[in-house]
Amino acid sequence: MTFTPRVFSGVQPSGSLHLGNYLGAIRRFVAMQDDYPCIYCVVDLHAITVWQDPADLVSATRHVTAAYLAAGIDPAKSIVFNQSQVSAHAELAWIFNCVARMGWLGRMTQFKEKAGKDRENASVGLFAYPTLMAADILAYQATHVPVGEDQKQHLELTRDIAQKFNHDYGARLAELGHADGLFPMTEPIIHGPATRVMSLRDGSKKMSKSDPSDNSRINLTDDADAIAQKVRKAKTDPEPLPSETKGLEGRPEADNLVGIYAALAGTTRDAVLGEYGGAQFSVFKPALAELAVNVLAPLNDEMRRLVADPAHLDAVLKDGSARAAAIAAPVLADVRRVVGFVG
Ligand code: TYM
Repeated sequence: MTFTPRVFSGVQPSGSLHLGNYLGAIRRFVAMQDDYPCIYCVVDLHAITVWQDPADLVSATRHVTAAYLAAGIDPAKSIVFNQSQVSAHAELAWIFNCVARMGWLGRMTQFKEKAGKDRENASVGLFAYPTLMAADILAYQATHVPVGEDQKQHLELTRDIAQKFNHDYGARLAELGHADGLFPMTEPIIHGPATRVMSLRDGSKKMSKSDPSDNSRINLTDDADAIAQKVRKAKTDPEPLPSETKGLEGRPEADNLVGIYAALAGTTRDAVLGEYGGAQFSVFKPALAELAVNVLAPLNDEMRRLVADPAHLDAVLKDGSARAAAIAAPVLADVRRVVGFVG
């Protein structure tokens, strides 16, 4: 079976969004709208795998929705919705819990990182997180998933689940006219200069919502002064910038700042070094701060405007949820029949 190309991706409404989420994911979602039908989800079911204050979850869901729209996702063209409004996600995730193996999930590095040493105390949902992610994608038979590098392993697991489901139910699928399987081998789309934006304080650590140091990340809600100050304080080494990307090897902080600049400017590391090769950070950092402010300030303003009208954001999510549910419904009906559920 050939699958109609379709893009799916999601962002968790937990804490404030940062530059890594924007450059590694949201900005790239916008570009894909011209080439594919796209579905962009606010994954609130995923967010509660760790404790979320309910009132904060409501505002974080609207915050991510506002970021999607402010970045340029057109809700008339693409589907923008929140996961909990479409029950197909939870339903398919249960079935995938019965397809995926404990060993597969036990190998997930994100679970190990997030659960830390206190694994006994992690929620069952945190362990099963990747099966819900597979359900998000496969409920729409999505063929392409733009994500940052940290999601690569989860995408591999999604393919393993699709393959095992197609294989285990192969005979039944053939009887029901799906001889080539019900689920596609979804392709992760991980490219560009900022698929792994690192902490501004430590070039060996990913920029993350959960880093205790606010100076480690640029939040999408930061104002111009905060952005400039964080760039100024960013960790660097004493050498000037090299004139070729090869010279960034072994210089993780320099590599990160050049990658951020390239992504913000919509260009490559090579092009940035073509311009700034030989420059000191005292020259490069102010240029980077100015570029970051120029790109992020309008986004920040538009997000603030959108968040002030929660009824509009909720209406976008409701409309998107109905459209998403309509796409997932026939897939779930097939799944139920294939598995052998009566009714
Ligand atoms: P989340 O909410 O942690 O992050 C959202 C997106 O941002 C990317 N990202 C980064 N990219 C570059 N540098 C960084 N430092 C950085 N930090 C985060 C993530 O890779 C992601 O693309 N499990 C997902 C959400 C999800 C999902 C899905 C994604 C749920 N279901 C189905 C794709 C398809 C997550 O926690 O993303």
